[in-house]
Amino acid sequence: MRLKDKVAIITGAGQSEADGMGNGRATALSFARQGAKLMLANRSSPSMDETARQVRAEGFAVESMLADITNEDDCRQLMAATTQAFGRIDILHNNVGAGTVEGDTADIDLAAWRQCLEMNLTGPMLLSKHVLPIMRAQQSGCITHTSSVASVASLPLIAYKAAKSALNEFCRWLAFENGPYNIRCNVLMLGLMDTPTAIEMYHQNSGLPHDEIRRQRAELPRMGRMGDAWDAAAAALFLASDAAAYITGAVIPVDGGLTTRVGS
Ligand SMILES: NC(=O)c1ccc[n+]([C@@H]2O[C@H](COP(=O)([O-])OP(=O)(O)OC[C@H]3O[C@@H](n4cnc5c(N)ncnc54)[C@H](O)[C@@H]3O)[C@@H](O)[C@H]2O)c1
Repeated sequence: MRLKDKVAIITGAGQSEADGMGNGRATALSFARQGAKLMLANRSSPSMDETARQVRAEGFAVESMLADITNEDDCRQLMAATTQAFGRIDILHNNVGAGTVEGDTADIDLAAWRQCLEMNLTGPMLLSKHVLPIMRAQQSGCITHTSSVASVASLPLIAYKAAKSALNEFCRWLAFENGPYNIRCNVLMLGLMDTPTAIEMYHQNSGLPHDEIRRQRAELPRMGRMGDAWDAAAAALFLASDAAAYITGAVIPVDGGLTTRVGS
């Protein structure tokens, strides 16, 4: 029970594809199994409702709220609803994020660029902005944002890369600024994960069969396999738990050694 009685918000707690296991859902299930009181948030309800159903099916209580993290009012209301339900907020785990393959910089679509930065950078800022007053008053808290190896590797996801690399530094600033309040802020830098959204995105983009995409992605990490949603959830759980009580400002690769290739 590593999160016993901790109140945790998980954003992006649904998943874009119905089948398989996404990072948000696996994190919700993992946190609940370790005793956390959960507030799930997602911009659409059916998939979040399914996550809540799976959490309840294991015998745990859970609250949920429709919220678009790029909307400031929604972020404000998410914090208000959580404190109303549970009286405090110990953990903000922001899982929301997604990218699209853009190709060449000369072809960037401005609307798509802005949308990507809103989701992957502005949303995490708004969530942090509205949770901080509560955590500062408590003199404790833990914020984890979800980034990607795309932030440091050369991949043709340009807006996503720009947004996630800025997210890494934004979160390091959060850690510096809020250390004196006993608030820890860290980044999970995920590698090639076998989640339904990622595989589907590359399938739509390349036309390659899903199994072929999985085979190609599995070749790149030094450990010879993709990660999965449970790997992401385990790292999120570690950072949220007291085992990480002295870890803040960290950008932690969860990538099976993929980024060890940089410079090698
Ligand atoms: N899967 C990978 O290979 C991989 C690699 C690196 C990083 N990541 C990161 O992992 C996270 C997502 O994991 P996934 O691919 O399993 O997720 P997913 O897409 O299955 O789930 C994300 C959820 O976020 C919700 N969402 C999207 N925009 C939202 C918004 N504005 N407000 C509220 N909810 C919103 C979606 O409805 C969906 O339910 C992202 O931050 C992504 O950048 C994934």
